Order: sequence, then C-alpha cells, then structure tokens
Amino acid sequence: MTTIAVVFHSAKGTTAKLADAVIAGVQSSPNATALRMEIVGADIIEGRFRNTAFIDQLDQVDAMIFGSPTFMGSVSAQFKAFADATGEKWGEKAWADKFAAGFTIGTNLSGDQLHTLQYLQIFANQHGMLWASLDIPGGCDPEQRNRLGAQSGLIAHTDNGVLHEVDLVTAHYLGRRVAELATRFSAPNPPAKSVA
Ligand SMILES: Cc1cc2nc3c(=O)[nH]c(=O)nc-3n(C[C@H](O)[C@H](O)[C@H](O)COP(=O)(O)O)c2cc1C
Repeated sequence: MTTIAVVFHSAKGTTAKLADAVIAGVQSSPNATALRMEIVGADIIEGRFRNTAFIDQLDQVDAMIFGSPTFMGSVSAQFKAFADATGEKWGEKAWADKFAAGFTIGTNLSGDQLHTLQYLQIFANQHGMLWASLDIPGGCDPEQRNRLGAQSGLIAHTDNGVLHEVDLVTAHYLGRRVAELATRFSAPNPPAKSVA
C-alpha cells in the first residue's frame, strides 16, 4: 500500500476543502491511502513549528502533497513555520526521491498563486523530492479541469469562500495522479502508466 501525506494549512477552510478533495483522489486509487496532516497554529510556539512527531511521521510516507492558501503572494506563515522546522530532514536527505505536488487558492484570479506553487516546489526540491506537475493541459480538457491553466500544480480561486466544483474535481485528479505515480515507482519493476 502506498501512503500519501496531504500536508496543508488553512485559515478559513477553503484550502482544507481542496485538501479533502485531494485526499479523496488519493483514496480512489486502489493501492493507496492518504494521511490528512493539517498544520495548526497550536503547534507553532513563538513563531516556530514544534510538533516533531508530525514531521517524523513524514519519513514513513511515499509521497507528500503540500497545500497552502496564498497569503501576500506566497505560502501562509503557518506553512512556512512548518517548512522551516524540517531542516533536520533536509540534512539527512530523509525525504529524497519521494514524489511531491502542491495546491493553493486565492481570491484573485491572478493573485500571485503561481509563486506559492513555486515556493512549494522549491521546498520539495530542497529535500531532494521529485515534483509532480498537473498534467491536464489548461483549456484543452473536455471536463474543463485545470480551469486556471497552471501546470505546476493546482491553482484554485474563490471570491466568496465557496469552492468552484471544477477546482475540487481537479484537486481529486491531482491526488489520484500522485498516488498512482508513487505506486508505480515503488514497484520493483515499475509498470507503464495504466490510465489516461
Ligand atoms: C493575509 C491575507 C493575504 C492574502 N493574500 C492573497 C494573495 O496574495 N493573493 C490572493 O489571490 N489571495 C490572497 N488572499 C486570499 C486568500 O488566499 C483566500 O481567502 C483563501 O481562500 C484563504 O484560504 P483558507 O480559507 O484556506 O484560509 C489573502 C488573504 C489573507 C487573509
């Protein structure tokens, strides 16, 4: 069984809804299970993320999908506090070669959410992880998934706290994609891609 951690912070709940759709996507893959790992303020003391058990749990997973709202053009302070607390894992290369992917949301259609995804990718690459893109060509999908056209991960948009159904469907797809990639590459002789 492949285990995928969905590690996210959400202040008002919209990123959490995306996270739950990502988790459902992971769980829809027959050989994968998801860990719902929410970064909460109570784990941050004097600006530092102090939940070492949370971070240690990530040693055991096969892949991680990171989620954060876009705040002032980047990840939230809470997500960054978590990221900064992973330095020991960086030094040990504890997470190297695991797959990673990301998602974010903002209230502007072009509210610098791409920078949040780019930060998430750099964070994953700091750890030697393998970044998984969103392989739905924006604007070309019959179901209109990836409606905002980011290929580096999922960018979602809400102007009223309500999630767009297509963003949730895209989040589900991203979860399943990472689960299937991680399953495929953890096999002794990785089989070819089986689904379109
Ligand atoms: C401090 C702050 C900064 C924000 N900065 C941005 C931004 O740079 N771009 C954007 O599109 N939305 C921005 N937003 C809107 C949030 O990304 C949006 O409300 C998001 O849905 C919040 O996610 P959450 O419900 O998971 O907390 C900002 C909101 C706050 C509170």
